[in-house]
Amino acid sequence: MEINQDGKEGSLILLKQGAEARVFESTFVGKRSIVKERFSKKYRHPSLDVKLTLKRLNAEARCVTKARWLGVSTPVLYASDPVLHTLTFEYVEGPAIKEIFLDFGLNGINIELNNRIATQIGNAIAKLHDGGLIHGDLTTSNMLLQNGSNHLVLIDFGLSFMSTLPEDKAVDLYVLERALLSMHSSCGNVMNQILAAYRKSSKQWSSTLNKLAQVRQRGRKRAMIG
Ligand SMILES: Nc1ncnc2c1ncn2[C@@H]1O[C@H](COP(=O)(O)OP(=O)(O)OP(=O)(O)O)[C@@H](O)[C@H]1O
Ligand SMILES: [Mg+2]
Repeated sequence: MEINQDGKEGSLILLKQGAEARVFESTFVGKRSIVKERFSKKYRHPSLDVKLTLKRLNAEARCVTKARWLGVSTPVLYASDPVLHTLTFEYVEGPAIKEIFLDFGLNGINIELNNRIATQIGNAIAKLHDGGLIHGDLTTSNMLLQNGSNHLVLIDFGLSFMSTLPEDKAVDLYVLERALLSMHSSCGNVMNQILAAYRKSSKQWSSTLNKLAQVRQRGRKRAMIG
C-alpha cells in the first residue's frame, strides 16, 4: 500500500506492524479511521495464501459485526476490500485498558474506575459467549475505554470464531487471566471481579467456570513439567 503522511483523505499512517497484519490510521469520508491490512505469510503457497488471508479477513469482519449485534460495543466496520485485504473501522478515541491498568497506583489508586471497568469486561465477554462468539485474543490492549461515554469497546476480532463449547469459552477467559496476572498484578484481583460479573450476566456461567478450573489445572501441570 502507498503510504503518505500529508494528512489528506486516504493517507495512511502506520500504527502497528504485526506478523500478519499492519494497522494504519487514516480517514474515511472525512472521519478518523483505522485500516487493518492482512498480508500473506511468505512461506505459504501463493494461491492458498490469498485464500487463507481472505478467509481471515472475512471472518474478522463477520465476528466484529456479530459482536455488535450481540450488544457488545465494537468499532463500526466502514469498509472491506477483498483486493487490498483491508478492513476499515471507525477510530475509537480513548485509552486502552492496558494503559489504565498500568497507571493504577501511579496516578493515585482509582479502585472505583477499575471496578467499573472489570464489570464491563465481564458483561461484554458473557454477551459474546452466550451468543456463541469466542474473541480469541482477550488482552487489555484489545479493549478500549471510549472517551466521553466511558464505554468499554472490544477490538481485534482477528482470532475470533463461533463456538458454543464450554472449553472454548474457558480458554478465552484463561488467556485474559494469564494476561492480567503477568501484566497487571498491581491491580489486585481484577480477574475475580471480571468473573463475578460474568457469572451474573452469562446464562451458561456454570459450565464455563467449571471448565475454567480444569483449564487452569492443565496450565499448572504444564508449567510444572516445563
Ligand atoms: N478501532 C480502533 N480505534 C482506535 N484504535 C485502534 C482501533 N483498532 C485498532 N486500534 C489500535 O491499533 C492496535 C492494533 O490493532 P489490532 O489489535 O486490531 O491489530 P493486531 O493486534 O495487529 O491484530 P491481530 O492480533 O489480528 O494480528 C490496537 O492495539 C489499538 O491500539
Ligand atoms: Mg491487538
